[in-house]
Amino acid sequence: MNFGVIGYGYWGPNIERNLANLDGSRVVGIAEISEKARARAQKAYPAIHVTANANELLASTEIDAIAVISPVWTHFELTKAALLNGKHVFVEKPFTSNVAQAEELINLAQQKNLKLMVDHTFLFTGAVRKISQLLDEGALGNLYYYDSTRVNLGLFQHDVNVLWDLAPHDLSIMDHLLKARPEAVVATGQGHLNGHEDVAFMTLYFPEKVIAHINVNWLSPVKVRTTLIGGEKRMLVWNDLEADEKLKIYDKGVRITNREGVYDLLVSYRSGDMWAPQIEQGEALRQELAYFVECVSKDEEPFNNGCAGLRVVQMLEAASESLKKRGALVYL
Ligand SMILES: NC(=O)c1ccc[n+]([C@@H]2O[C@H](COP(=O)([O-])OP(=O)(O)OC[C@H]3O[C@@H](n4cnc5c(N)ncnc54)[C@H](O)[C@@H]3O)[C@@H](O)[C@H]2O)c1
Repeated sequence: MNFGVIGYGYWGPNIERNLANLDGSRVVGIAEISEKARARAQKAYPAIHVTANANELLASTEIDAIAVISPVWTHFELTKAALLNGKHVFVEKPFTSNVAQAEELINLAQQKNLKLMVDHTFLFTGAVRKISQLLDEGALGNLYYYDSTRVNLGLFQHDVNVLWDLAPHDLSIMDHLLKARPEAVVATGQGHLNGHEDVAFMTLYFPEKVIAHINVNWLSPVKVRTTLIGGEKRMLVWNDLEADEKLKIYDKGVRITNREGVYDLLVSYRSGDMWAPQIEQGEALRQELAYFVECVSKDEEPFNNGCAGLRVVQMLEAASESLKKRGALVYL
């Protein structure tokens, strides 16, 4: 499959490297508006056509698929143009800047019978695959909560706030794992430096009393990537910064029984073993791009398709509304 890659900033080179090394894919062109970034791309890939004009790739009859790795505000126009030119599209997260744009692109891809995949990279990590397997097997029992902290210093994005930049990771993981849609969202945050919120907190209310909390922050002195998932039977801690034992499952729990006619509660704690399951190694992005090539060649719908991207944008849009009202409850 012949690819054109649009955007060669921070993330673009990772897409380019993986596509260049994958069986069944080849990058024939890179479009980048920054002269500096174009020079970097041309130095790394002397044989590839590098251009300032994305239209050259969009119109090329040699290209089957376009990877859109540019800032969020450009995703809609570039993806739409690629689809109108008959190209399959691999587009970065968050899919679009709003729900209406995402819906339009999903319809267009359907009409044209083209594949649309949104880069929800974490879904292809060994950790998320293992958590997904554990939840499907019922290892945690009924779920209580999902609680994620994703903080570090920078990288400030110019066009979106920290929620739109970092929360798509957690929202896509939650959407994939919980297989449920939130009923309501509350978001709070504050911007200190460039007009966009750089510290934000998001709470999502799911059916069956499942609650999720996401803490995202560009102003943290330390990098933290920790997710807790609590269930009735077991609880897990996923520390993505651990080299080994990223995932720990705790056989711990709490049971409360109310003695009939008696006001005091009987609380019993269960504190069993902890175990760290083996998780698959390998670069998630490579697996994801291989899956994209496979979906296109076999004409299969990817699970991280436009609809998955739309669900994340719906949660982000609701969060933005709540954020504006300093934490008002917004129903989805
Ligand atoms: N999946 C992940 O884990 C992950 C990680 C980082 C970034 N991202 C996403 O990747 C996208 C890009 O992020 P980044 O951090 O690389 O940003 P960036 O600003 O470093 O790079 C974007 C590049 O796109 C170029 N560009 C903008 N408009 C263009 C156009 N019309 N034609 C050609 N080039 C154009 C810019 O010059 C810039 O070099 C964002 O959507 C971001 O959310 C995803």
